[in-house]
Amino acid sequence: MDILLLAIESSCDDTAAAVLCNDKVLANVVSSQKVHAAHGGIIPEFASRAHLQNLVPVVDAALHQADVAQHQLNAIAFTRGPGLIGSLLTGVMFAKGMALALHIPLIEVNHMQAHVLSVFLNEPKPRFPFLCLTVSGGHTQLVLVQDYLHMQVLGETRDDAAGEAFDKTAKLLGFPYPGGPLIDRYAQKGNPDAFRFGQPIVEGWDFSFSGLKTSVLYFLRSRLQEDPNFIKNNLHDLCASIQKSIVDILIKKLVKAAQQLQITEIAVAGGVAANSGLRKALAGIEAQYGWKTYVPSLEYCTDNAAMIGITGYYKYLKKEFAGHDINPLARYAL
Ligand code: KG4
Ligand code: ZN
Repeated sequence: MDILLLAIESSCDDTAAAVLCNDKVLANVVSSQKVHAAHGGIIPEFASRAHLQNLVPVVDAALHQADVAQHQLNAIAFTRGPGLIGSLLTGVMFAKGMALALHIPLIEVNHMQAHVLSVFLNEPKPRFPFLCLTVSGGHTQLVLVQDYLHMQVLGETRDDAAGEAFDKTAKLLGFPYPGGPLIDRYAQKGNPDAFRFGQPIVEGWDFSFSGLKTSVLYFLRSRLQEDPNFIKNNLHDLCASIQKSIVDILIKKLVKAAQQLQITEIAVAGGVAANSGLRKALAGIEAQYGWKTYVPSLEYCTDNAAMIGITGYYKYLKKEFAGHDINPLARYAL
């Protein structure tokens, strides 16, 4: 029997809904909130208010695009955490209300697990076990994936996430939030070896990015004293050099872990997986080591509900349903 699933994602500043038939995406709709750009970062209260406004039209649009009526749905999957509590609450309550009204099961999904499983939304699909580097605005995790619902976090960032490193250094360059995609765009025409920023020394499989941010800050301060137009005159080279530093930190750890664990199937997921420098570096390690690498298409890298839907589908197959008495305030970790 085919399973028709509605999925809802509202953990941060994107309101998203998707409709899946089994593991195939029929519709994937994302409404990105514009209200935060002027503030240099996400304002949690604004985010939850925007979700309240966006949820109904986004869900309606997804059902319409998929040509699926509410009464045909078999279950509703939603992001249970981690994320901003107000944003999560809006999604949890919406999903719960709709599931109760339709008398169908609810499936709670971990946002980071969903980023990992987003690699199954495209072809070819990785084989188990594989290593997944999950890099987003809030997290940086190195995950050993044994099966769809069986995964272990081997290493994490000790301070800033990779996306935060992009966004915070972008802010120093004068870019609006989120600056990661802008660094990527300007880096295309820059020299990645023009400037060098310190690389962290972190034992094991953890990451650290706060030192890089500080090193960029001090570097810019000193250069701007000599030349007030330093950023403007070197924007492409600065972006390319910052991007290379972040990508190097990520790739070095990923390669080291794969070698130690003797794993040759490697995936990268999450918003930062949209970065062209990281995607190029991944293609490079495939060529150098002969490993197979996987990265989702761009629409499935940044926050989306299709990844919540595919995780929900695997949970549906195992009958892992949530009660209707969920406490959205309780911690929910991978
Ligand atoms: O996964 P995501 O959409 O949301 C979270 O779960 O955090 O990731 C958002 C992050 C932001 O930090 C954004 O700047 C970064 O992904 N990002 C990029 C690119 N596209 C998105 N960073 C670098 N290059 C990109 N092309
Ligand atoms: Zn995310």
